[in-house]
Amino acid sequence: MSFLSDSIARVKPSATIAVTTMAKELKEAGRDVIGLGAGEPDFDTPQNIKDAAVQAISDGKTKYTPADGIPELKAAICAKFKRDNGLDYKPEQVSVGTGGKQILYNALQATLNPGDEVVIPAPYWVSYPDMALLAGGEPVFVETTSATGFKLTAEALEAAITDKTKWFIFNSPSNPTGAAYTRDELKALTDVLLRHPHVWVMSDDMYEHLTYDDFEFATPAQVEPALYDRTLTVNGVSKAYAMTGWRIGYAAGPKMLIDAMRKIQSQSTSNPCSISQWAAVEALNGTQDFIPENNAIFKRRRDMVVEMLNAAEGISCPLPEGAFYVYPVIDDCIGKTTEAGTKIENDETFAKALLEEKGVAVVFGAAFGLSPAFRISYATSDENLKEACSRIQDFCAALS
Ligand SMILES: Cc1ncc(COP(=O)(O)O)c(C=O)c1O
Repeated sequence: MSFLSDSIARVKPSATIAVTTMAKELKEAGRDVIGLGAGEPDFDTPQNIKDAAVQAISDGKTKYTPADGIPELKAAICAKFKRDNGLDYKPEQVSVGTGGKQILYNALQATLNPGDEVVIPAPYWVSYPDMALLAGGEPVFVETTSATGFKLTAEALEAAITDKTKWFIFNSPSNPTGAAYTRDELKALTDVLLRHPHVWVMSDDMYEHLTYDDFEFATPAQVEPALYDRTLTVNGVSKAYAMTGWRIGYAAGPKMLIDAMRKIQSQSTSNPCSISQWAAVEALNGTQDFIPENNAIFKRRRDMVVEMLNAAEGISCPLPEGAFYVYPVIDDCIGKTTEAGTKIENDETFAKALLEEKGVAVVFGAAFGLSPAFRISYATSDENLKEACSRIQDFCAALS
């Protein structure tokens, strides 16, 4: 009998670790490496949010709180859903966790039984499949293509749903592609879900505020109110407020599910950090002025990166609507040989060779379930991005 559980055996180690470790080793060896793997804004947390945290410490708000969030934060979250999404939730329909990650994990743990299927469009955020597997469920991947800007079609969603489907995980804007669904594109998907009343929607809206060119964000429960009773709308402060280290995420949905998620959290981590919760109250209730300021910077970088990548031989990069990622496809590079003599078999060998030969660290597409491609995070300086993209151009120009 194995000492380790069956569920841990079902989970694979993070596929991104190989490239990250290699980048670290090269840097330590004195090589000039530009990392484009970061999943977090390079901006600092705004001062008003930091001040609220300092105030919380001074006021002694340093004790246990209710397991799934203080009433003040739940009230701020209800106000946010009303203000930004036109959604009415009561505080008892809200759960606050240690990052959006814990919220998603709790929801899957609270609902999946062996054999239950979770439909996940690919490419996907790396944690969805493994979280589903850890909870005993079965991820069902539905591939998208660059032709649709990596957006799932209604036909593909329809074909993926079976009697065993419990959840459809929807992520817009997406990590890793930056693709965001317009209201009409989303409506086509919610129409499919209306025909399958046993399927619930987990909408991961983590990048809601990071959209460009006047794109209008939409979320399933808002686009199709008939799905309200089977939708968990997940969000958090990590990305929009540059608060990844504070670890506050939240969700709203049917009380029955929120109660079950609280049960899990109360028996595992208990409340998220009390000080971070007070900081999140300020993030949601305070000024939102820096969001458009940061977005103007992200948009400028996105435009530069997409233009430079499309100028590289063998690379084709769709222009995404949001987040801080681009997902260039590299079909035309596969089978070629690099300047140093490495044959590009797949996107993993592409990323490794790019790192070894040009000192640019990107995450290969197989890690996100759609190849051959790679992900670039443009949450780094314009100078870094310009230099990295010109090295990618040189790398591609030398392929033969
Ligand atoms: C799509 C997506 N969902 C959820 C998360 C988790 O966010 P948090 O840092 O709040 O746990 C991330 C973080 O990278 C993400 O990219």
